[in-house]
Amino acid sequence: MLDRVAEIQAEAEAAVAAAGDTAELEELRVRYLGRKAELTGILRGIADLPQEERGKVGSGANRAQKELEAKLEARAVDLDSRELESRLDEDRVDVTLPAAPPRPIGHLHLITRTTRQIEDVMVGLGYRVMEGPEVEHDHYNFTALNHPPGHPARMLQDTFYVQSSPELLLRTHTSPVQPRSMETQPPPIFIVAPGKVYRRDSDATHSPMFHQVEGLAVGEGITLADLQGTLEEMLRAIFGPGREARMRPHFFPFTEPSVEFDVSCFQCDGTGFLAGGAQRCNLCKGIGWIEVGGAGMVDPNVLGFVESSGYDGERVQGFAFGMGVERIAMLRHGVPDLRRFFDNDVRMLEQFA
Ligand code: PHE
Repeated sequence: MLDRVAEIQAEAEAAVAAAGDTAELEELRVRYLGRKAELTGILRGIADLPQEERGKVGSGANRAQKELEAKLEARAVDLDSRELESRLDEDRVDVTLPAAPPRPIGHLHLITRTTRQIEDVMVGLGYRVMEGPEVEHDHYNFTALNHPPGHPARMLQDTFYVQSSPELLLRTHTSPVQPRSMETQPPPIFIVAPGKVYRRDSDATHSPMFHQVEGLAVGEGITLADLQGTLEEMLRAIFGPGREARMRPHFFPFTEPSVEFDVSCFQCDGTGFLAGGAQRCNLCKGIGWIEVGGAGMVDPNVLGFVESSGYDGERVQGFAFGMGVERIAMLRHGVPDLRRFFDNDVRMLEQFA
């Protein structure tokens, strides 16, 4: 019987030494030490052996079982660490491989980008960016901007009113930031005010909500020539070097004199013609100039409303200008319908990444 035990042990130990992986080792554990294993059977049958054999066979089989368990354990540790090593080897990250393509994360809306571009130029000229509320008092939107009672812009068909007394409305332009900013800081003042404005208007070139950028410069000795130079600097930054600015007489209640300003056409270089004169420029309609916005010298009556903040119309003067951001973006990028900016169709918007 002891011989058989020795045989089993030798066979089992050889098999354990030859096991290639931990799964195979587990099979060997079941085969040699499991409930149905021969050695287990021998140990279970000790009691049935003749008295004189019990002790020897019992201790021999027990020792064989313990030794085999130890061998299995040692081999398991060995195989485990080898398997871990080869897994680490296979999982090695090759840091020299090219990176995965960056995920598209979107970009700023063309209107935001155009607004920021205008802000940048103006900040470069020493202006500060100011903002005002979109729901505005009648006082700032009209009264303090020298709109007499009964002015057509105050009419219900042009303005969205929010509340009647006191009168609150959706601002129809960014110009209310003029009196608002002058109230909070004495002259000299140089500010730009971008933001949303609202009018009861809707077609291919008008949306009930659109964006403007306002500019205001008030101090001693500021003239219409400074306005011309400032507009030229700004328009060149937006439309490219070499562009000219032109002012035409116009009317606004809050500037005197008032002008509309144009930029020389960037498509035909101000000539009004394309293809060496053979074709009329479709962008400026052959005029050579494109209308961009309104401007003028701040009306002394407007300064009168902020006199207590240090604006003495006898001592300081200045200019203001305002322009539509959508219009500039449409011109520069050939967008035919302003409403496309707000449909939020990514196929349209992602063209301006
Ligand atoms: N607020 C005017 C408009 O919306 C534009 C403007 C601004 C004109 C500043 C003169 C000075 O039409």
